[in-house]
Amino acid sequence: MYPLRRNRRLRNSTVIRNLVRETILTPSDFLVPLFVVEGNGIKEEIDSMPQYYRISLDILRKEVKELWGLGLGAVLLFVKVPENLKDNKGTEALNEFGLMQRAIKTVKEACPEMLVMTDVALDPYSIYGHDGIVANGVILNDETSEILAQMSISHAEAGADFVAPSDMMDGRIQIIREALEDEELINTGIMSYCAKYASGLYGPFRNALQSAPTDIENVPRDKQSYQMDPANRLEAIKEAHMDVDEGADIIMVKPGISYLDIVRELKDEVDVPIAVYQVSGEYAMIKAAAEKGWIDHNTIMLEQLISIKRAGADIIASYFAKEAVKLLG
Ligand code: PBG
Repeated sequence: MYPLRRNRRLRNSTVIRNLVRETILTPSDFLVPLFVVEGNGIKEEIDSMPQYYRISLDILRKEVKELWGLGLGAVLLFVKVPENLKDNKGTEALNEFGLMQRAIKTVKEACPEMLVMTDVALDPYSIYGHDGIVANGVILNDETSEILAQMSISHAEAGADFVAPSDMMDGRIQIIREALEDEELINTGIMSYCAKYASGLYGPFRNALQSAPTDIENVPRDKQSYQMDPANRLEAIKEAHMDVDEGADIIMVKPGISYLDIVRELKDEVDVPIAVYQVSGEYAMIKAAAEKGWIDHNTIMLEQLISIKRAGADIIASYFAKEAVKLLG
């Protein structure tokens, strides 16, 4: 009790603050999302994500070497699929010579030890911009999961270490796990987007991949029939238990900052590592406010990343990974 306890004694100098700091960011906390496009020598800045790029395979090769040199050992791959290869069922997703499959091989050739995680969902491949097959105005669940399982096998065969289903279909973790087991791909991990909320913060990402739900009659305009309602907490706990029971090795909460209560809750609830995705809209908001001079970029970037870790994240997927790690020295 005061004055016997004066808490400011532990805040009085840099040295003491460093000694008692409870949470420390390190390069090994991060998972780096990368956007891959067809072509050669391409590094195009994404309009809504300043200083973040879509890159072709040759640039990807250089990029992963640079990341590895910075101590960043894990990437999460996304592909921008040419419009003429899109359909309702994501047929191109299963092409063993598809962009994702080539991207996986490119990373492994350039940097064999780099841990490769891949996005598993139909939206980049869908003419409708949905994570599942669309029929009569609804998103089909079980038919979609079967394709996700095939897609996971294809990624694993190309060399992916983990598949990361980001679609929120029911039961897909079990279907994917069983499919991998059947193919004896027993060492391929699953990072499940487990509590993925129907957030407004994915806009810049959909811009990056040109994967937003389309404005076509009888196609839902949003993803609320599969992604979670931001109002719900118990539902996240239910999802977490089910995904772990179905065989998820890692579960994810997404977006980050607005959902840190959920992160802490799931951390206390289940015994698998928790990943948090600081999403494109969170990145864009910091970049935009900093550009206007209204906030200090690096201060806010590090504050949000440390908050994500403090809340319970074992893994942070972030577009800031490279910048943050350079700053941490
Ligand atoms: C889609 C997917 C999305 C993101 C990752 N995978 C967008 C969506 O659900 O519409 C968003 C990532 C981000 O905004 O950074 N399967």
